Amino acid sequence: SHLQPPTSQMEEVSLLRGSNCRAKGAAPGFKVAILGASGGIGQPLSLLMKMNPLVSALHLYDVVNTPGVTADISHMNTGAVVRGFLGQPQLENALCGMDLVIIPAGVPRKPGMTRDDLFNINAGIVRTLCEGIAKCCPNAIVNVISNPVNSTVPIAAEVFKKAGTYDPKRLLGVTTLDVVRANTFVGEVLGLDPRDVNIPVVGGHAGVTILPLLSQVNPPSSFTPEEISYLTSRVQNGGTEVVEAKAGAGSATLSMAYAAAKFADACLRGMRGDAGIVECSYVASQVTELPFFASKVRLGRHGIEEILPLGPLNEFERAGLEKAKKELGQSIQKGVSFINK
Ligand code: NAD
Ligand code: LMR
Repeated sequence: SHLQPPTSQMEEVSLLRGSNCRAKGAAPGFKVAILGASGGIGQPLSLLMKMNPLVSALHLYDVVNTPGVTADISHMNTGAVVRGFLGQPQLENALCGMDLVIIPAGVPRKPGMTRDDLFNINAGIVRTLCEGIAKCCPNAIVNVISNPVNSTVPIAAEVFKKAGTYDPKRLLGVTTLDVVRANTFVGEVLGLDPRDVNIPVVGGHAGVTILPLLSQVNPPSSFTPEEISYLTSRVQNGGTEVVEAKAGAGSATLSMAYAAAKFADACLRGMRGDAGIVECSYVASQVTELPFFASKVRLGRHGIEEILPLGPLNEFERAGLEKAKKELGQSIQKGVSFINK
């Protein structure tokens, strides 16, 4: 009956007074799209973004299951208006007018795979989604989660360049999970609340390209060589630890949704004009000779306002940086060639 309309028809129901806008008196917010919203990351990330008071409209796009996910999340009594979009024909409507687009679409690893093993499937998915962004919301800030991040961010950049919409300040690879892990593991070793710990993690987002700068830990602390070796390896292999524990059922989804929501919130606060928002992210960069590199960036109204220098590295970290750069350069080239082949 018309008293219990399917969620997809809510906007047309005449009983609703202003169903299409936020509650009276609510502050205006940002429009956010999640591409891959039905997935292991997508669902909890959608939940967390629906809880974010800076979001006024939340568009959930996937090639499967968005009607159910959208119906479910739309019942949460928080401010954001939720709409679902299903399949390629609805991609453009999903993206129209968005301020921030978060991309967790793509296949995850199984035990024994590297992130680069996902390239063949995920490269094409990211290309198609970024073509849509270039067409429908070329000024949106884009958060790329899909692996291999070291290659998918260069792919996104090349798609935007081809479309004539590329602004390196608005394209950010999400490496927050590496920082979240580093803070957790270091907190355990130092006996500190992980919320009070901050470790910059630079380089990229795969194996040896993940470079936790333990010498720059906040609050300042020193580590034994054994602790440095254990912590560096645990952070670099954090993703694999979860892939193996899930034993074929996928990779990190819950901690990733937390990390992605944290990073998106930092982007939104920057867009709102908050000062001093600094996060690590994999971005177009001149911090090294490579065209992309993860380091601390300051976020502002239009995305990246400043890329911060790496700061002092000890000998162990300098050696790690050389290793990281070697692999990272190849992953960047692979992404660039995928679009320009
Ligand atoms: P998942 O398989 O559970 O979900 C992926 C979702 O993407 C599915 O719902 C699927 O339908 C959707 N999808 C596939 N093709 C699509 C398309 N063309 N358009 C829109 N949606 C599409 O996987 P997951 O666990 O959520 O992981 C997603 C991706 O995130 C993987 O590539 C994974 O490696 C990556 N990841 C990155 C990080 C990071 O730190 N950056 C962390 C964890 C996972
Ligand atoms: C992670 O770091 O957890 C993700 O990149 C997923 C993976 O494949 O490890």
